[in-house]
Amino acid sequence: MKAPATLFETSPGEVWLEIGFGGGEHVSAQAQANPDVGILASEVFVEGLAKCLSDIEEKALKNVRLWDEDARELVDLLPEASIDRVFILFPDPWPKKRHHKRRIIQPDFLDALSRIVTPGGRLRFATDVRSYADEALEKILTHGAFDWQASKADDWRRPPEDHVRTRYETKNLGDIAPVYFDFRR
Ligand SMILES: C[S@@+](CC[C@H](N)C(=O)[O-])C[C@H]1O[C@@H](n2cnc3c(N)ncnc32)[C@H](O)[C@@H]1O
Repeated sequence: MKAPATLFETSPGEVWLEIGFGGGEHVSAQAQANPDVGILASEVFVEGLAKCLSDIEEKALKNVRLWDEDARELVDLLPEASIDRVFILFPDPWPKKRHHKRRIIQPDFLDALSRIVTPGGRLRFATDVRSYADEALEKILTHGAFDWQASKADDWRRPPEDHVRTRYETKNLGDIAPVYFDFRR
């Protein structure tokens, strides 16, 4: 794939990637709030893609490009150090222990993400499932490519200032209040 910046009509200052955007509320709100940023957004759920496309059209957003297949395939195609920011917000929790291996945060996916994120680039992971919060934090810190930015509890238990609540988040389906982990490459 060519440099992702060339996918946009005007060369964006930064390129962000959102993985598993659901209905795309966060994608369209961030795209509107950050018109100089190009947003690549990935979702496999057709109704979610359709909802996001209709938001893009309604808001006349020019800075979003959608990928309608597995985000892991997109990540593998992206050039090294081409993404400034990654959002993984409320990924499928796979609550049963025997399904935890299906969770997207795995060492090989962290290898792939660390390849495409620019030095100093950011990763945000949010969940409302305790076992996923624990597992993701442990896996990301053990992996070592991303430094956790929190210095006090409010840094992860309060929504970051630039956070936009997602549809899934508002359903409160998890077993804890949402946590937001911000990392830097
Ligand atoms: C629990 S939902 C959360 C959606 C959204 N982030 C939100 O907070 O409302 C997780 C989403 O990730 C999508 N998803 C799961 N695995 C994916 C993958 N490998 N690539 C792209 N999307 C994926 C699912 O289709 C689902 O819509």
